[in-house]
Amino acid sequence: MAAATNSSSNSLLSALDRDPRTDLRLGRARIQFGGRSGKRLCTTTIKCVHEGEEHARRSGRTSDVNRREFVLGSIGGGAAATLPAAGALANPVELGSISSCSPAELPPGATPVNCCPPPNSSPIVDFQYNTRLPQRLRRPAHLLRPDEIARYNRAYQLMRALPASDPRRFSQQANVHCAYCNDSFRQANSRSELQIHDSWLFLPWHRWYLYFHERILGKLLGDDTFALPFWNWDNQAAGSPLANVIPSAYLNQAPLIDSLRNQQHLPPRLVDLNYSGQDSGPIPPDSTQRAENNALMFQQIVSGSRTPSLFFGQAYRAGDANAPGGGTIENAPHGTVHVWTGSAAAPNREDMGTLYSAARDPIFFAHHGNIDRLWVVWKTLPGGRRRDPTDTDWLDAKFLFYDENSRLVRVRVRDALTTEQLGYSYQDTGNAWASARPTIVAGARNLVSNAAVDSPAKLRIGKKEEEEDDEEEEVLVIQGVEIDCDRATKFDVYINLPGADENTSCNVAEYAGTFVNVPHFGDRRGGPGHMRTTDLRLGISDTLDQLGIKDARNIVVTLVPRGVGRLDPIKFKGFKIEYE
Ligand code: C2O
Repeated sequence: MAAATNSSSNSLLSALDRDPRTDLRLGRARIQFGGRSGKRLCTTTIKCVHEGEEHARRSGRTSDVNRREFVLGSIGGGAAATLPAAGALANPVELGSISSCSPAELPPGATPVNCCPPPNSSPIVDFQYNTRLPQRLRRPAHLLRPDEIARYNRAYQLMRALPASDPRRFSQQANVHCAYCNDSFRQANSRSELQIHDSWLFLPWHRWYLYFHERILGKLLGDDTFALPFWNWDNQAAGSPLANVIPSAYLNQAPLIDSLRNQQHLPPRLVDLNYSGQDSGPIPPDSTQRAENNALMFQQIVSGSRTPSLFFGQAYRAGDANAPGGGTIENAPHGTVHVWTGSAAAPNREDMGTLYSAARDPIFFAHHGNIDRLWVVWKTLPGGRRRDPTDTDWLDAKFLFYDENSRLVRVRVRDALTTEQLGYSYQDTGNAWASARPTIVAGARNLVSNAAVDSPAKLRIGKKEEEEDDEEEEVLVIQGVEIDCDRATKFDVYINLPGADENTSCNVAEYAGTFVNVPHFGDRRGGPGHMRTTDLRLGISDTLDQLGIKDARNIVVTLVPRGVGRLDPIKFKGFKIEYE
């Protein structure tokens, strides 16, 4: 079983993997990936500089070979069967204590702040479910009744009024996010920093963060039924009140207001779930924006994320370099809504547009409520393998949070797999995007036969050794994307739409997904300019199906840099196709 899973993942290594120095510095060019026996030829149209570079060896990694097998096993969906003997390779990321907290790395222009939590005065306790608590219903922020808004407002008033040294104080709560994002913490038994973005830790860590935040607010109110609202930006329904604008509670109630928001994005401006980081050109009509948003949701949550690793992000184990790659949901809509909300006039798009300050805006917790809700929704969608990872290095990852009684609590990912266990659920608001399949751009089908004609470079892609399995997902991997942690880099990916440019809609069947970096100062290993490399993985089986090219020997991949970073070259190591 383990061997079978490994060979299916291992057998498709592109030649770029073997010769990473292939120089592909191109303005706009096509590269053909040749297939030994006809599995897939990839022709690539690149509209940015592509420099094949030696992938910097990730420091801090040990037992590489074994770990890689482990990674591949879990991606293949057969994790339970491929786990090694107990203890042999157990390697979950853990925050062991908060006493080693060091000053956060902040971006240029940021006002200095100490993001470290106050030291714990009593020993760490292990999390236990509190079965005496009432179930809490998280409701959409735009539908809150006046009495609910008043309660919400009062809760934040109380939280903001706590003493500066109280870990439950609002500013301390905001700093928790900063500490976990901007290199304040080191992992237990390792010199590596702990980073909870750009990997499979993203969803569970934020679920826990909101859990404790909500419990603290409830405790301050003396009301255990208090539930955080969620910002239902994925709901494109017209009418009043609108779900997909900044909800009025965050604009009218002093404790919920944040002055560092993009002033061009106040209501009635609709949220742009595929925001490029720049407002240029005319504002699209609302109907267009709604269709774009639905299409983005469809691609990221339905079509392009049909396996656990595509949705949750890449494995990140103790000692690994940070940021192996976020899942579809983390890139967009998560990252795009952050950047859309933050102030374009602030040096780093504070507050929401950069990680160290994002949680200073109370809307952060409603934004992440919606992300958390989409985790629940994703597991109910048809098609693919939509379940939580079963890898014990994910399940046993451990974090520390202060609870409503100011006790420091150790939590594990495995205790946060359902919201019901944690005592809350989400009001159903429908998910219209789940059936918003975009249509095909006329002529796209014809590109297949032209694609390989003028390709300058031939690179071989390994043959798949097994019978094709319908459950298997074809994954386009854009390897070693090099980004500056401080910049709001974004590029979109299209298949068989070589004419795509920054004006091309995402509401087309050729749209395959997006890469988004929410700026942060995240990796001391990144070296000058805080560079990091990461892989973008996009599930493309459904897209190829829709385009009628599932068995085609050629596909054209076009990368379109967008927004503020579009004039900078985006560098990456290469492409490959994998099956998982
Ligand atoms: Cu921890 Cu939305 O970021």
